[in-house]
Amino acid sequence: MTEIHKGLAGVVVDTTAISSVDPESNSLLYRGYPADQLAERCVFEEVAYLLWHGELPTPDELAAFQGRGRSQRALPGAVIDAVLALPTTCHPMDVVRTAVSIIGAHDPSAQDPSPEANLAKSVRLLAQIPAVVAVDQRRRRGLDPIEPRDDLKFADNLFWMTFGEVPDPVVLRAFEVSLVLYAEHSFNASTFTARVIASTLSDLHSAVTGAVGALKGPLHGGANEAVMATFAQIGTADRAAAWLDAEIAAKRKVMGFGHRVYKHGDSRVPTMRRWLGTLVEHYDRPDLLDLYLALEDAMAARTGILPNLDYPTGPAYHLMGFDTPTFTPLFAASRVVGWTAHVMEQLASNSLIRPLSLYDGPPRREVPARP
Ligand code: SDX
Repeated sequence: MTEIHKGLAGVVVDTTAISSVDPESNSLLYRGYPADQLAERCVFEEVAYLLWHGELPTPDELAAFQGRGRSQRALPGAVIDAVLALPTTCHPMDVVRTAVSIIGAHDPSAQDPSPEANLAKSVRLLAQIPAVVAVDQRRRRGLDPIEPRDDLKFADNLFWMTFGEVPDPVVLRAFEVSLVLYAEHSFNASTFTARVIASTLSDLHSAVTGAVGALKGPLHGGANEAVMATFAQIGTADRAAAWLDAEIAAKRKVMGFGHRVYKHGDSRVPTMRRWLGTLVEHYDRPDLLDLYLALEDAMAARTGILPNLDYPTGPAYHLMGFDTPTFTPLFAASRVVGWTAHVMEQLASNSLIRPLSLYDGPPRREVPARP
């Protein structure tokens, strides 16, 4: 009897040296370093360097790495024109997906499979996706693009391009923590999508384009946006339990809760939850935290299902001023590091990813003869 592993749940399909997601110890290691320690002690560019190169950068290596990225932040005019030409009715993740394709189409090294070329493409994508996210949110608000600045860190520059200002250091730090925690998470659906595409020896931009499509789904990265929609539906903390009872009765999944791998809670949540608390104080929004806690408590009491990283990150991005549909593009702006690290790892010791299926359709039958 053939055993089916639907959704590849629990199936180990390959090794990776990039990160370890351990549900038993409820821990996440990036190249051996605990992700929560990296989030508290490093800037995002240090973690990007670590994931790509396997070691934390020295101060000189970090300075050179930051300089390389900062010099490539400006979007090619063709990409800006293409983003501005897209309807504002399409989802911002469709804009990111389209922009990655166009960035690839304009990259003369797009078809170069060498590790050096793929790293350079990855650096360019990391540098340019924030501008796509910022241009898109601004155009939906009827605002013109703001040029990137090469004197700002990654996180600061993303705020500058989106809002025309750099926020309070505590807001920047909370944002940087979210970027580090979002950067990598082993063979999640979007990363595995990128590996499948890379395994055919297709190009890096195709792999990232596919990954963006996978991340958009509400069962995956789209959940951070859906959490805010949930909060808008509930309204106030006192209505959380009744709302949840209706969702459970309707057998609908609650966004921001549960995880395919973590069964004792998402290892990243305590860190992001702490920074959400800091943001709630900074913006004086105890009502939002009351609602957050009321739904979390109701979920625990009724289902035992715990929050994942999207649950604290959604309201955090809301407090920072990002439009809700921008939340998953922010996830993509960080996870592009993990995706590209896995593409390069897949290519370094490649095997075409092609699972089997068990046929359960009609038995063999003959096509009726034609007159
Ligand atoms: C991310 O894989 C990764 O690493 C992803 C990610 C990353 O960093 O890349 O961590 C990012 O995608 C986090 C997940 C974001 N998605 C959501 O918040 C959407 C809501 N969550 C659920 O859809 C669900 O929890 C999943 C998709 C995340 C996990 O799905 P599984 O593995 O199929 O869930 P399960 O088998 O553990 O569920 C067991 C039971 C099921 O009940 P039955 O159908 O067997 O009766 O618990 C139920 C589920 O229906 N359940 C939920 C639920 N999550 C699980 N019920 C209500 N609400 C939920 N959120």
